[in-house]
Amino acid sequence: MEVLDVRVAAVLRSRLTQYARPPYVRWPVRMTAPVGRVSPRCPTATGNRGGTVPVFASKREETEPPCHTENNNMEFPLLLLLLHHLHFALCLFFSLFFNATSHMLLLKNNTSPFPCNFLFGTSSSSYQFEGAFLSDGKGLSNWDVFTHKPGTIMDGSNGDIAVDHYHRYQVNKAGIDYYNRLIDALLQRGIEPFVTITHYDIPQELEDRYKGWLSPKIQEDFKYYADICFKNFGDRVKYWVTFNEPNVAIVRGYRSGLWPPARCSASFGNCSHGDSETEPFIAASNLILSHASVVTLYRTKYQKKQRGRIGIVMNAIWFEPLSNSREDKLAAERAQSFFMNWFLDPIILGNYPEEMHEILGPDLPSFSRNDKQKLKTSGLDFIGVNHYTSYYAKDCIFSACEPGKGSSRTEGFALNSPQINGFSIGQPTELDWLYVHPEGMEKIVTYIKNRYNNTPMFITENGLGTLEKPNPTIEDIINDVKRVEYLSSYLDSLATAIRKGANVRGYFVWSLLDNFEWTYGYTIRFGLHRVDYATLNRTRRFSALWYKQFIAQHTNKACLSSS
Ligand code: BGC
Repeated sequence: MEVLDVRVAAVLRSRLTQYARPPYVRWPVRMTAPVGRVSPRCPTATGNRGGTVPVFASKREETEPPCHTENNNMEFPLLLLLLHHLHFALCLFFSLFFNATSHMLLLKNNTSPFPCNFLFGTSSSSYQFEGAFLSDGKGLSNWDVFTHKPGTIMDGSNGDIAVDHYHRYQVNKAGIDYYNRLIDALLQRGIEPFVTITHYDIPQELEDRYKGWLSPKIQEDFKYYADICFKNFGDRVKYWVTFNEPNVAIVRGYRSGLWPPARCSASFGNCSHGDSETEPFIAASNLILSHASVVTLYRTKYQKKQRGRIGIVMNAIWFEPLSNSREDKLAAERAQSFFMNWFLDPIILGNYPEEMHEILGPDLPSFSRNDKQKLKTSGLDFIGVNHYTSYYAKDCIFSACEPGKGSSRTEGFALNSPQINGFSIGQPTELDWLYVHPEGMEKIVTYIKNRYNNTPMFITENGLGTLEKPNPTIEDIINDVKRVEYLSSYLDSLATAIRKGANVRGYFVWSLLDNFEWTYGYTIRFGLHRVDYATLNRTRRFSALWYKQFIAQHTNKACLSSS
């Protein structure tokens, strides 16, 4: 892939499978994006209720050009086909032209808001991409076992093959070779690998032996595995991530039980074991201390020589108060504390957020003096921010709340959802959890900047998932204008945060390819490239071209203007 003189981040995700038994370390991949360019802003109509609550006007004008309509007239099929293709080509051309023009809006005074050396890229993960689930001595992960149980995945699929990246990139006899060759190939092409040590999946053996994250024993095993990664790849990998979205993995694994190890209590889900009120906090505490152990290991044994940086990636939702009332504003704060700050506060500030202590009391495990010392000396070098959407938050302490996500005590008494009382935070998408609210990007980045002393940040994931209709035409496959609108509006909002001083060093689109979307199986597509799951063929979408152009334009401008 040609990226001119651009450094594009390739993000590698790793997994724990067999980490306790060298040399079977198997990693996932985050490959680069073909590059692109920008589109018109996504229209977001707002209104008011009682002068306080921002409302999205759900009926909006169609923004797509008329060329997207299907032509079903079958009388002159060949001619129509030609016209159809010509029509499509012209649309694409005008769309590109129009988008390229509007993109100039981002370039104030002919300089890009993205600093020189800003990394653009795409993200992926091992379980969602690699497949080869029993190859080269790999053991079973908790996700392998979970997806093979009937009824767990929407379309009955699993990640056994996924998008076959393990075989299609290169065939190797062992995992270490695979990642070594992949890392070398990325670097040879000027692509910076970002390696995530754990993207949700852990060896099933550790679940069976001591209940995974519920046991403090996992700290030693995780450290052992990370050591193998640093030793084998750290001469070339300069960006390490300990965990991807522990706040999602812990909540789904131990509160709702929707993900492995599928533990919860009866009022929270349908599980055979678990305690939704206490286990999430125990598991999180072991995970936070595992992060600290691995950062300490990296700092003491490798960092000086290898000169890399290490951080953690959080799922970051922007919580907007449902009204201007003090109660709802505090609820939005609490929602953030019980979601993201739950992990970042101990790692960066040394203890859990105050609200969590107040509400949870003894249900929140306390850190020993030793732990606190470990947290203090480890910390992190950067925060990875996965941002897709925003939610409203409503107070449930002083006001009555219907049951829902966030309303219970152990979730902080802050009902949160993209839609509350008929008010919608933004434009709905085909995914029930993802509403388009680009302003949320600036707000969440600014919030993190202020709370954590402007620690360097990377936007490690941002993207739009879509459904595909049966028997799609080539136009349906390629013409993902909605994705382009989404990405361009979020990048625009990110640019504003950067202009106002946020220390953001990179931005990666989720994802390079369509892939296995956890419990949604292969039904949801996030790729800049479409994957045909019958043949595993890849087709470049319009968004890939757009992103390619965007990167080229911004990176060059930024570097020229700062040199
Ligand atoms: C996760 C990815 C997932 C993506 C889209 C992120 O929260 O890290 O694994 O595929 O969201 O849902």
